[in-house]
Amino acid sequence: SDTHQFLQDLPKCEHHLHIEGSLSPALLFRLAKANNVPLPDPAFDPSFASLEALEARYEHFTSLNDFLHYYFIGMSVLITESDFESLAYEYFTRAHQDGVHHAEIFFDPQAHTHRKIPYSTVVNGLVAAQKRAEKDFGLTSKLILCFLRHLSETDADVTYQEAVSLGHFSNGIVAGIGLDSSEVGFPPEIFREVYASAAEAGIRRTAHAGEEGDTTYISKALDICKTQRIDHGIRLVEDEKLLQRVAREKILVTMCPLSNVRLRCVTKVAELPVRRFLDEGVRFSINSDDPAYFGGYILDNYCAVQEAFGLSLKDWRFIAEAAIEGSWCDEVRKHVLL
Ligand code: ADE
Ligand code: ZN
Repeated sequence: SDTHQFLQDLPKCEHHLHIEGSLSPALLFRLAKANNVPLPDPAFDPSFASLEALEARYEHFTSLNDFLHYYFIGMSVLITESDFESLAYEYFTRAHQDGVHHAEIFFDPQAHTHRKIPYSTVVNGLVAAQKRAEKDFGLTSKLILCFLRHLSETDADVTYQEAVSLGHFSNGIVAGIGLDSSEVGFPPEIFREVYASAAEAGIRRTAHAGEEGDTTYISKALDICKTQRIDHGIRLVEDEKLLQRVAREKILVTMCPLSNVRLRCVTKVAELPVRRFLDEGVRFSINSDDPAYFGGYILDNYCAVQEAFGLSLKDWRFIAEAAIEGSWCDEVRKHVLL
């Protein structure tokens, strides 16, 4: 349709995409076999009995933690540099087809180093894919290193120091830090010290907040971790003052509509605060989060928003411009994107 074409053609930036969340069940089974990685016994979890069973299971997540259980099992099949390269190149190919011009992708190094896959294996694979995507599609991208909040601050710091010692923040390989995994019970202030080190070193900062957690997760991310973005942030509407502050300070909120439905943060896309954000001038981008798990890539998310809200050209221009301005690329690239 016309709207689909319009949304496809709209120059898009993706800011909230976990590269491990772009692992399809098909690639999962293929890599498990190739790498001899055992999957859970179907006698204990019938979801692993077949490709179809796993795909069906992904349609019925009950919460963030229910999803994360499958997410961490899934990524256990990623072993070699070339596995990470294939995974990321497949994502970039799809993103390009969806009209993405610039992507900032999260990765979870601790989920790999904890199973003896070196940090450098992960990053080298991802960087190889980034280079190919830029050459083949003109798609630019950045990496955002996420800490797993269910692990300790000490563990996050070990990961941070490894990236620092390899010069990954100063040479531009890693554009910033983020915080993901189970939210409730793991507030952002636990990670205050590593965020303070990053702030002092001029490293950009974001954190998942206000996905399942209440608005204190958002305010603590901003006040204590000094984040420049909020990932998800849909519960921001529960605190009017905080909402106005986010608008005033031009904090980018990275929304993930289909994810929020799949993880039951809302029952339908129409419940998301899209209209409220537009009316209050809250800058936000629309993203896919973990597309292989949530049944849609970025364009599907854009279309779902349009279907639910029937936005105007002016609204879409605001969203597209906020996404470019909130990107962590250099000013020259931003100018080209605008
Ligand atoms: N890791 C991958 N996707 C996530 C999400 N939506 N929330 C928290 N952690 C995640
Ligand atoms: Zn996420």
